[in-house]
Amino acid sequence: MIASKSSLARFARKKSRFLYSKFLANLWKSVAISGIVLYSFYIILSIHPCCRSSVLLANFRYRLWSTSSSTADPQTNISHLVFGIASSANTWKNKRPYVEAWWQPNKTQGFVFFDRAPADQLQQWPPSSPPFRVSQDTSRYKEYNGHPDPHAIRMARVVLELFREVNKGVRWYVMADDDTVFFVDNLVEVLAKYDHNKYFYIGSNSECVSSNFDHSFGMAFGGAGYALSYPLAQALVKNLDVCIKRYPTLYGSDHILQSCIADLGVSLTQEKGFHQIDLHGDISGLLSALPQSPSVSLHHLDAVDPIFPFIKNRYASLNHLMEAAKADQSRLLQQTICYHKQNNWSFSISWGYSAYIYEKIYPPSILHRPLQTFIPWKKSAKPPFMFNTRPLPSNDPCEAPHVFFFEAIDKTTTKGINQIVTSYVRRSSPRSRSVACTSSSSGSHYVDFISEIQVLSPATKHGEAGNTRECCDILHVADTHNFSEVQIRACMKDEIVA
Ligand SMILES: *[C@@H]1O[C@H](CO)[C@@H](O)[C@H](O)[C@H]1NC(C)=O
Ligand SMILES: *[C@@H]1O[C@H](CO)[C@@H](O)[C@H](O)[C@H]1NC(C)=O
Ligand SMILES: *[C@@H]1O[C@H](CO)[C@@H](O)[C@H](O)[C@H]1NC(C)=O
Ligand SMILES: *[C@@H]1O[C@H](CO)[C@@H](O)[C@H](O)[C@H]1NC(C)=O
Repeated sequence: MIASKSSLARFARKKSRFLYSKFLANLWKSVAISGIVLYSFYIILSIHPCCRSSVLLANFRYRLWSTSSSTADPQTNISHLVFGIASSANTWKNKRPYVEAWWQPNKTQGFVFFDRAPADQLQQWPPSSPPFRVSQDTSRYKEYNGHPDPHAIRMARVVLELFREVNKGVRWYVMADDDTVFFVDNLVEVLAKYDHNKYFYIGSNSECVSSNFDHSFGMAFGGAGYALSYPLAQALVKNLDVCIKRYPTLYGSDHILQSCIADLGVSLTQEKGFHQIDLHGDISGLLSALPQSPSVSLHHLDAVDPIFPFIKNRYASLNHLMEAAKADQSRLLQQTICYHKQNNWSFSISWGYSAYIYEKIYPPSILHRPLQTFIPWKKSAKPPFMFNTRPLPSNDPCEAPHVFFFEAIDKTTTKGINQIVTSYVRRSSPRSRSVACTSSSSGSHYVDFISEIQVLSPATKHGEAGNTRECCDILHVADTHNFSEVQIRACMKDEIVA
């Protein structure tokens, strides 16, 4: 019974295989014939004088080979973006320097939205600030009178008022808080990867598990900023007020909008370069080992220590980072790791920000984890972060890095190639070293002699941004000089850094 059944099946399989191969042969024959016919048709058309330069044929060719109509659109640039910055008359004075750090008058377009006109500054609105608008009165939403954040409804409606204000030639609506700092070139670069003719909601989660848990893992946190493609913004604003009333208990405007976007069937596209910074304390450990992706934003800079510990003024600290940002955003805060094998030293550079030297060989898999110099938004939350960290090193001086911070930027030409030189000067964070590491150093190669690290990087953009890290070589360590020199370069094919 079983045997005959299986032989029957075998027979059926054989037969179908035979029929199938016959079918394939026929198929190939007809494909080949029609291919030859089509090709001759194409050749005749292309060489025939009547059609050689015909638009019709060009269109035909275009439609034949292009897969998406959007490939015909010119590259996305800064003028395709519109910013909606939610602020309030009371907070503006202290937040304005964060906005002016990135705002480019006559280049970036958009508005700051206030709850009321900032009376004291009305006379002379500075050209360095974005123009402002006063939000519509939302007091008609009586049901929101008890909302824990009185500005949430007004902030959620910024997208609507912004859309009414500007909607010609816009590809992306970028929503932000007044303490969001953008790296605009990188933002443009990142958004240009996506098809603005489709529904896209692009941003990032919080660094803290509890923030995502309390709000939503599917939410782009508003402080980090997020972008809506034109058609998504258009669909969202169509019924926004109805949607806002559907979610009377949600705390933040970003959560309300995320819910309305979810109701349109659209989910978050995460981009690692948006940084909500739901952290407190010294964030240098994080900024020295950010995930590889063009840095798009920083937030909460007034909730953390000044980003450069030796520049106590927060705005000045940010503007110092902006000096590097102006020269090369593609490498800004991007980590590069290389080794001085003779001395067993590891170098970890966060371009434009910091350089660490460890008197030990640590593979990249370790050094990619930020040193936990910071604490989570909610102190006791466990687990705290969405990523792995390394505890601050013990007292063993061979484990604690020597820390250098970005000092200056310059240009140079070596062998006819234009390069950028960033220098990093020794500072004492995250841990001051009282004892020297004696076990790893040999001869005269003491790290302690190094007071400065100079990093050479190409004057051209890091084209692989968002894909792979770059590599580096240590050109020399301190012996006769008291500075060390590092060259950043593209990695060789399949190069293993360890
Ligand atoms: C941006 O691209 C548009 C074409 O879509 C062009 O007209 C405009 O001049 C460009 N703007 C900038 C600032 O490059
Ligand atoms: C911006 O454009 C206006 C008008 O074209 C001009 O008067 C102003 O100087 C420009 N501002 C800057 C900062 O370039
Ligand atoms: C570097 O480390 C290797 C392996 O641990 C060790 O054999 C060597 O002596 C070290 N070199 C120096 C200069 O400390
Ligand atoms: C090198 O050391 C000398 C003398 O100690 C000092 O004057 C100079 O500034 C140092 N150079 C750097 C790059 O730190």
